[in-house]
Amino acid sequence: MTEVWVLGGTGRSGRAIATALRERDIRPVLAGRDAERLTAAAGGDRTVVAASVAQTAAEIRRQRPAVVINTIGPFTATAPELVRACLPASHYVDLANDIAAVAATLGGNAAAAAAGRTVVTGAGFGVTATESVVVKLCEGRAAPQRVRVDMVPSLAMEAGAVGEALAGTLLEGLPGVEGGRRFQGRGYRGGRLVAARLGGDATRLTLPDGTAVTTAGMPLGELIAAQRASGAPDVVAASSEAPSSPLVRAVLPLATALLAVGPVRSFARRRLAAVTVAARPRPREHSWGHAIARWADGTTREGWLRLGEAQAWTGAVPAEIARRLLAGEGRPGAYTPAALFGPSLAESCGGEFLTAEITR
Ligand SMILES: NC(=O)c1ccc[n+]([C@@H]2O[C@H](COP(=O)([O-])OP(=O)(O)OC[C@H]3O[C@@H](n4cnc5c(N)ncnc54)[C@H](OP(=O)(O)O)[C@@H]3O)[C@@H](O)[C@H]2O)c1
Repeated sequence: MTEVWVLGGTGRSGRAIATALRERDIRPVLAGRDAERLTAAAGGDRTVVAASVAQTAAEIRRQRPAVVINTIGPFTATAPELVRACLPASHYVDLANDIAAVAATLGGNAAAAAAGRTVVTGAGFGVTATESVVVKLCEGRAAPQRVRVDMVPSLAMEAGAVGEALAGTLLEGLPGVEGGRRFQGRGYRGGRLVAARLGGDATRLTLPDGTAVTTAGMPLGELIAAQRASGAPDVVAASSEAPSSPLVRAVLPLATALLAVGPVRSFARRRLAAVTVAARPRPREHSWGHAIARWADGTTREGWLRLGEAQAWTGAVPAEIARRLLAGEGRPGAYTPAALFGPSLAESCGGEFLTAEITR
């Protein structure tokens, strides 16, 4: 089997991935639960209709595609079942961008290695853009003492509902992640995951194009990827999408305390999924991944990855990973994208590294 399946084929990410696969001469197979919308999205490519994640898993076991790309969040809920369905015969790639899902999927390294399959998690904009810069900064060096990564997406919004996958991911929090509560930030200190304030560690960054953005701490999959890629004991992950205004930070403790109550979370999730957003052009020309690493001897290296619109890049990364896996370039085990393929993956997707400054 040489098929590449895109689960959630009707969604924003699913469609972007399908486009990027076609650009690489790979005809995607779109999987989803609504036959009519799926056919419309597939534009003549093959579709697989499955009403639920369990049915999708059963179809994967039966039809044994070469690569499965999972865009159905929240990944804490969908990834374990889908990875299990893949391991006998299929490589698995997902777009997880929260600590809980990325850590759990990487925890399946031994099972993936034993099955001789490759599992790649975090194959979207945030993890891949920031991790790629960290790998670039740390290539051939001992582990730095401290790393900070910042993701600055430039995201065009299409009109429509937020949807279950995104709403679930946003409101799932970090179930079972060590170091703090479900709705609390995280950082690495002394090599251990510890609690951090959501929206804390705010920094004003001047981008290489001269404009400025504020980034602040978010418990993103980037944190895990940056720690593993650098080996640094102290790591902070921040995003320009984090609530960094003093007003929002003031109400966050109350909002997150409410979300800790299960029925409130289910209610909020349904409401958020149904919220419609208006179309919006991307706010700036480029999206950026940024990392700064400090070594114990005082050396500091800073790097940027410049790329285009973030959603299109979230399409290109899984498509390029699938292309490389089909070409036999993967390794058995569970990885984040740049840990598996190095900084060249980001470049193959149109990303451009800006020379790292070195100061003492
Ligand atoms: N790492 C990153 O940088 C990054 C970037 C973008 C997105 N993401 C993540 O990727 C996920 C998808 O985002 P999106 O914007 O593409 O969302 P979306 O447009 O809502 O698409 C989600 C897709 O999943 C399907 N789906 C949802 N729940 C399902 C279920 N229970 N069973 C089967 N199919 C289901 C939807 O099918 P229907 O059409 O039938 O509802 C839709 O096709 C989110 O979790 C998001 O956080 C990550």
